[in-house]
Amino acid sequence: MQQRDLGQSVSVWMATTAAPDQSTLAEDAHADVCIVGAGIAGITTAYLLMKQGKSVIVLDDGAVGGGQTQRTTAHLSNALDDRYFEIEWLHGSEGAKLAASSHTAAIDRIESIVGEEQIACDFVRLDGYLFLPPGESAELLDRELAAAHRAGLGDVERLPRAPLACFDTGPCLRFPRQAQFHPLKYLTAVAGATERGGGRIFTATHAETIKGGKPARITTSSGRIVTADAVVVATNSPVNDLLAIHTKQAAYMSYAIGAIVPHGAVATALYWDTLDPYHYVRIQPLPPEAGMTEPSGAEGHDVLIVGGEDHKTGQAPAHSDPYARLEAWARERFPMIREVRFRWSGQVLETIDGLAFIGRNPLDQPNVFIVTGDSGMGMTHGTIAGILLTDLILGRENPWTALYDPSRKTLRALDRFVIENFNLARQYGDWLTSGDVDSPAQIKSGAGAVIRRGLTKMAVYRDEQGACHECSAICTHLGGIVHWNDAEKTWDCPCHGSRFDRLGGVLDGPANRDLGGVDRDCEK
Ligand SMILES: Cc1cc2nc3c(=O)[nH]c(=O)nc-3n(C[C@H](O)[C@H](O)[C@H](O)COP(=O)(O)OP(=O)(O)OC[C@H]3O[C@@H](n4cnc5c(N)ncnc54)[C@H](O)[C@@H]3O)c2cc1C
Ligand code: FES
Repeated sequence: MQQRDLGQSVSVWMATTAAPDQSTLAEDAHADVCIVGAGIAGITTAYLLMKQGKSVIVLDDGAVGGGQTQRTTAHLSNALDDRYFEIEWLHGSEGAKLAASSHTAAIDRIESIVGEEQIACDFVRLDGYLFLPPGESAELLDRELAAAHRAGLGDVERLPRAPLACFDTGPCLRFPRQAQFHPLKYLTAVAGATERGGGRIFTATHAETIKGGKPARITTSSGRIVTADAVVVATNSPVNDLLAIHTKQAAYMSYAIGAIVPHGAVATALYWDTLDPYHYVRIQPLPPEAGMTEPSGAEGHDVLIVGGEDHKTGQAPAHSDPYARLEAWARERFPMIREVRFRWSGQVLETIDGLAFIGRNPLDQPNVFIVTGDSGMGMTHGTIAGILLTDLILGRENPWTALYDPSRKTLRALDRFVIENFNLARQYGDWLTSGDVDSPAQIKSGAGAVIRRGLTKMAVYRDEQGACHECSAICTHLGGIVHWNDAEKTWDCPCHGSRFDRLGGVLDGPANRDLGGVDRDCEK
């Protein structure tokens, strides 16, 4: 098992943060709570439990923040991207109020942690603007405004346009007191504070099996065992859950670009449009020490971050170039763009009813907890998880428990459940089709393709030196056939979003094992 690295692209956060130190678990250990996954959800949970006097161990098979957290755009928002009128319809008016107050509380909690731990992570409060794409009726904004007010966000207002001199957004909603930060600077500092408070964080340590009970036992791939009174699985997509959760959420790839613009040329705020998939925009100041000022030596530039172009994981539209489409969209609206310096992608998990799953793992021992289904709002959902799971583990009441309960059944989301699972069933049709190519000779250097070999299919990758590598194309979660992702050089499963590196090493759950027959030379 090699250390995971979710792809080849580099986000603006990865480019502007030093790689954290690694410390691997070298002996068996015990703690009150073991947390698997050191992203924003796992680290926040560990930090808040540590603050309550609990001993914690965090295990991650990569680095702190090395999962989707380093691939985010880090808008911190209570402007739910599934829209308040939709959340109200699905979860009732009380549910919408709790959703609003929990995301507001998450931003407040991040702000208070930044203050308490004195974290230099570019945290700033700002406004968020939701605007329409050309041709869409403003009625949507009116519905959302009314629903946001009913959910308790009384200071949301409708304005004639967002404060952008370069393009007229038309009517928009202003959500005040949103925020943004540098996610890796924040997370590494919170991890450091957790360790200073006695928490133990082990990276490059893969949790192979996770079993609840008294005590819970987590066995790592090196054979070391962690026992704990409770275990939190914060692996983004739960690697301990075979099906219960994965039929209620779907994995999507999302793309982002970071373009250099003159400092101050774009008003610092969060921006979203209401397209499906939608565009999301923010500004990140570039410190001169990042060595990324203009070659001319001109100082003071910002990175304009623009994201979107989502599609289901492993189901990219043929001949699509999401980065080119994002750049074209951005250049049309932000003509001050000098160059696009960053391009990256990652995965979000969309639940069928718009809210994350945080709480006891369904059909499991009562001391196994999960957090998943970020719904594109994983910075706040991950922080909500820290607050909620701390209360659940300490046996305290929390008003958000039922809203985020992973076992909940949202009857009004039944149609989305059926659509998602119909799509899922179709993916297994890949077993019957021919391969992408007939022979390895047709695969160019640096590319991969699926090849049929009798009754089965193989994932074949030709490296930059021309050597050919082959492993099984059958996903180790539930047998889907993986697809080549040329942007990240990964094998992606279209069923529930498991991802594997070019040689078949597992990167993203729910699969927790490498592709079979890893790395055979296919030309022998
Ligand atoms: C392009 C993009 C833009 C986004 N924009 C926003 C945004 O603006 N605002 C927002 O709120 N959210 C946004 N999100 C979503 C957000 O980034 C994620 O939801 C969030 O980072 C997930 O955090 P996490 O802690 O749940 O998971 P991760 O950060 O993925 O952490 C999970 C960790 O578990 C580890 N792990 C997995 N399996 C094992 C195992 N078996 N053993 C040991 N360790 C394991 C992984 O190595 C990883 O470090 C965006 C996501 C993307 C991709
Ligand atoms: S992710 Fe479930 S079968 Fe591949």
